[in-house]
Amino acid sequence: MIRVAVFASGTGSNYEAIMRYTAQLTVPDIEVGLVICDQPQAGVIAKAVRWQTPVFLVERRQFGSKKAYEQQILSRLQQERIGFVALAGYMRLIGPTLLSEYYGKIINLHPSLLPAFPGLDAVGQALEAGVKVTGVTVHFVDAGMDTGPVIAQQAVAIDDDDDHESLSQKIHALEHQLYPRIIHQCALGEIYLDQGKVCRLVR
Ligand code: GAR
Repeated sequence: MIRVAVFASGTGSNYEAIMRYTAQLTVPDIEVGLVICDQPQAGVIAKAVRWQTPVFLVERRQFGSKKAYEQQILSRLQQERIGFVALAGYMRLIGPTLLSEYYGKIINLHPSLLPAFPGLDAVGQALEAGVKVTGVTVHFVDAGMDTGPVIAQQAVAIDDDDDHESLSQKIHALEHQLYPRIIHQCALGEIYLDQGKVCRLVR
C-alpha cells in the first residue's frame, strides 16, 4: 500500500475527487494518509474531517524560515510513512527541503496548458488573454513555479459566454477526472521520472 499525502490551501474539491477515486478501487493499493494544509480557513479541512483523513495544519508564518517550515512538514510525512505527494491547490513553491526527499514523487495540478498562464489565477489569466482554448496540466514538481516535466494535459474550450465561474467549473470537472488516475499511476511507479524525462511502463 502506497501512502499519499495531499497538499492543499483551498476548497479541496480535488482532494475529494481523489478520495472518491480511492474509495472505489477494487485493489486498494494507494491510500490518502494525510492532508497538509497551510491555511486555517481552507475548505479542505472540513472535507478531510468528513473523509477521516488526518490533517496537518501548518502555517508558514509560524516559522522563521521556509526551511524550518518544510522540515516540520517533512518530519510528519516521514512519521506517516508517506511515499507520494500530490499538490492539489497548494499555493506555495516547494523548496529544497521537501524536494530533496520527494523529487520524482511529487506532482502538481495546474488549471492551464502550461507553460501558458503559470502562477495565480490561471483561469482569470486565460480569460484576460482572450484565448479560445485553455486546459489542465499535471506535472512533476521541480524548484520552479508550475514548471517541471509534464505528465498529462487536456484542453478545455472557452466559449464566448464563459465567465470565471463557468470556466472554473469546466476545468474542475476535468481535473476531477484526470488527477486521481494520474496520482494512482505515478504513486505505483507506472509513470516515473528518469533523468528528467517522464516515462511510462507499458503493460
Ligand atoms: C485547482 O483548479 C488547481 O488546478 C489549482 O487550484 C485549484 C484547487 O481547487 N492549482 C493551482 O492553481 C496551482 N498553481 P480545489 O481546492 O477545489 O481542489
